Order: sequence, then C-alpha cells, then structure tokens
Amino acid sequence: MTKTKFGYKEINSSSKPEMVNNIFTSVSSKYDIMNDLMSFGLHRGWKRQFLRICDLSSVNNALDIACGTGDISLGIIQKNPSIKLTCLDPNQEMIEFCKQKLLNKGFSKINFEIKSVENYKPKNKNYDLITVAFGFRNFTDHKKALVNIYNILKPGGRFVILDFKKPRNNFYSNLFKMYTLNVIPKLGKLVANDEDSYKYLGESIQTYFSPDEINDMLKENGLINTKVINLIEDVATIHIGYKS
Ligand SMILES: C[S@@+](CC[C@H](N)C(=O)[O-])C[C@H]1O[C@@H](n2cnc3c(N)ncnc32)[C@H](O)[C@@H]1O
Repeated sequence: MTKTKFGYKEINSSSKPEMVNNIFTSVSSKYDIMNDLMSFGLHRGWKRQFLRICDLSSVNNALDIACGTGDISLGIIQKNPSIKLTCLDPNQEMIEFCKQKLLNKGFSKINFEIKSVENYKPKNKNYDLITVAFGFRNFTDHKKALVNIYNILKPGGRFVILDFKKPRNNFYSNLFKMYTLNVIPKLGKLVANDEDSYKYLGESIQTYFSPDEINDMLKENGLINTKVINLIEDVATIHIGYKS
C-alpha cells in the first residue's frame, strides 16, 4: 500500500482524495473570506501576478485545475473572454461557488469537470494553457497528475503553478511556521468554525515540496524552459514549464 502525506500524518494514498475532499466541503462557504483574512489580502496580488505570467492574450484553450471557488478561472475569462475555459475540481461544493462566481459576472459558456486531475484523461482535447493555483499541494499522486497534464498540453503550451513555500530566511521561516500552525487554525475556528481544516492547511504548507523539488518534477515529466519565480513576500512561488 503506497503512503502519502496528509499534513504531518502519513496515510494510505487511497484515503487522501476523500480526506482532502472533506476539508474543502467543510471550508467552501468561508473559503474566499478566509483567504482575504489569512493573507491580509495578499493572495489577490499574487493571483494578479500569476495571471500576467499566463500571457492570456495568446491563449485559445485553457484548463484551470483545482479551480476551487474560481478566482483564477474568473481572472482568465475576464482578461480574455474569447478563451475556451475548462474549470476542473473534484469538490462539488467548491466548483458550485466557482460556477456562481462566473455566472454573476456574465460568463455562462464554461466547461466544468468535477474530477481530480489524476483521473482527467480527455480524448481529443488539448490546452495551450494549464493553471493550478494553491492546488498542487493537495494532489495525491503528483506523478500521475503531471503525466496527465503533459498529455493534454499542446506543443508550445504553458503550465503554470502558484503555491506556498517556506521563506528562505530562518527567522522569517520560523515566524511563518508559527503563523500557519498556530494563528491560522484559530482564525479558522473563529470565522469558519473549523479548526482542523485550517490545521491541515498549515501542515500541508510545512510538509510541501521545495521550489527546487517542484522544478525538478516538472523537468522529469518532460516540461522544458522551466522557471521558478519567488514572489516578493517569499511565502509563495510561481512555476512555469512548457511542452516542446
Ligand atoms: C486551496 S483550493 C484552490 C482554489 C483556487 N485555485 C484558488 O486559488 O483560490 C484547492 C482546490 O484543489 C482541489 N483539489 C484537491 N485535490 C485535487 C486533485 N487531485 N485534482 C484537482 N483538484 C484538486 C480542491 O478540491 C480545492 O478546491
């Protein structure tokens, strides 16, 4: 039986999708407000920078993996309404919030896929842009996910990831650790009445791959011209890779 990380716990890989899914079901209604509170609004700037790097003017078909409540999906379609967009997420509740967010802004011709990226193997579909914001950390089988992503990326297509990282400076890293492991769960309890889900969030950041490890994974899975961009606060990175 293969094992995987779930925060600080080692669990059977087969249990992780359901455990992650339960977390996002529980936090879905408070997800957006919690993002603003936990990051002091900084996630909005990170997402704007991420969208700039996606170079949306040249994109025809885009896939937003782990779309969640749809911040990135909305940004993509607002910046270039001619893009054929697919939003993918295994969590029914999160994707419903995404659908509603897009509809409220007048975007109704979006394709939604309720499934994990590990199970997404569409025939006759390929994308010139594939995005994952704050979702890569939650995948169960990164190898399987990257094989699927590579197979549906067009030659010349771009794959872009945004996620947390640990700061490089020791003092700042300890401060960030204290904040993610102690303050965020308390905030989760106060705002979303859910301490455990936000405890998982902190732990999943602390046990996540380093930017170099992710960069190596992208290269090992066939992506070229990979690049790592450390965001200014040094708690998040953007990864880019292309299919040749
Ligand atoms: C932290 S949210 C990110 C939402 C959004 N992209 C954002 O930036 O606000 C992570 C999302 O990843 C989804 N997710 C978890 N495991 C996944 C998987 N294996 N494949 C695709 N999405 C997954 C969850 O359901 C959740 O909606």
